[in-house]
Amino acid sequence: MDALRLQFQFSGKLLQSSSKRCSSSSKQSVCRLGAVELEDCALKVAQFDGGKPVEESLTAPSSWYWSSSLASLEMECIFGRGWHAAGYVEQLENPRQFFTGSLGRVRYVVCRDEQGQLHAFHNVCRHHAAPVASGSGCTPSFSCPYHGWTYGLDGNLLKATRITGIKNFNPRENGLVPIQVAAWGPFVLINLDAQANQELVAVEWLGSSSDLLVAAGIDRSLRHVARRDYVIDCNWKVYCDNYLDGGYHVPFAHPGLAKGLDLASYKTVLYETVSIQSCRSKNTGEERLGERATYAFVYPNFMINRYGPWMDTNLVLPIAPNKCQVVFDYYLEPQFCQDKEFIASSLEESDQVQREDVTLCQSVQQGLESLSYDAGRYAPKVEEAMHHFHCRLHNDLLLGIKRAKIPSGM
Ligand code: FES
Ligand SMILES: [Fe+2]
Repeated sequence: MDALRLQFQFSGKLLQSSSKRCSSSSKQSVCRLGAVELEDCALKVAQFDGGKPVEESLTAPSSWYWSSSLASLEMECIFGRGWHAAGYVEQLENPRQFFTGSLGRVRYVVCRDEQGQLHAFHNVCRHHAAPVASGSGCTPSFSCPYHGWTYGLDGNLLKATRITGIKNFNPRENGLVPIQVAAWGPFVLINLDAQANQELVAVEWLGSSSDLLVAAGIDRSLRHVARRDYVIDCNWKVYCDNYLDGGYHVPFAHPGLAKGLDLASYKTVLYETVSIQSCRSKNTGEERLGERATYAFVYPNFMINRYGPWMDTNLVLPIAPNKCQVVFDYYLEPQFCQDKEFIASSLEESDQVQREDVTLCQSVQQGLESLSYDAGRYAPKVEEAMHHFHCRLHNDLLLGIKRAKIPSGM
């Protein structure tokens, strides 16, 4: 029986005895859904018909963008499985380097040990649950700032301070709890499913699009030059939808950017877990945009944008049903890395576009929460990537509900 099934079954039983919440001793995830919330999710998921073609389909219903029970279900069945971008390989170029991050309620630390091997762990001390690491940097071990328990970069507990007299305690069973980790191209990925196979990361994360992305110039030759964070008052999917409209909003919302793009050349190709939008630049000679831009969306929340000498990635992290954080990492071809002026002006132009998108996304969230709106329609020729995204979400949410409803003992 897998952990998710066990947790949802457990949750159902607790609800019958009139408790609304449940917890589990599982190290992988903790269920926040009771049976009533699960039923509520099932109704909301059923409002979308994933079998209809884009020309006939209504969009995902507005409740997907504000419901707290649906947000909890997403954490289980969308973020609790599969590969997720966590950082970039350059952060772990040398032994002893590490970085931390979070995905929903999961706090993680990723590091490279003395032998060069990558590791990822839940960033939770086995003593009283403090995070053992913060930020990023270089360290020979993780020493918990609370009471000093110390762990090796392989997760083993090296030192447990002042535990004289403790009984039935095996240090070997009290190491940091591991998370599956892998690298693809310039990116470091984690997978909260303990059974995940690192060898399959390319096919599971990118499907048949991985060679295309390499051909588009998404590789380790680029150097990381900047990171920017945006906290936005909208559901994480509002930000993704905005990205996936085939350039529909660009002439209206980004007049500066629109001047540099040949929007008539916009095209979208769909793969299993990825959609790739691309667009030619207008012949303005603008170095930042180059000749052609590739915008790859990797389900569920990662965007890779390659244009001119630049690549930027956008990682969309849910914080609450109506709040997300978008982490922008900027990478540049090495020969441009000394051109401070070019870097500063490019980042400023990009930031201008983000500020325009933040305003849009926040206002859309308000509309989705208003009483007047339930679902909209897709513009079929430009919004097929958004429809593809909603169909994938629908599929994963349905699977999550199905797993949760399997009667105990099966
Ligand atoms: S919580 Fe980490 S040493 Fe106590
Ligand atoms: Fe935009």
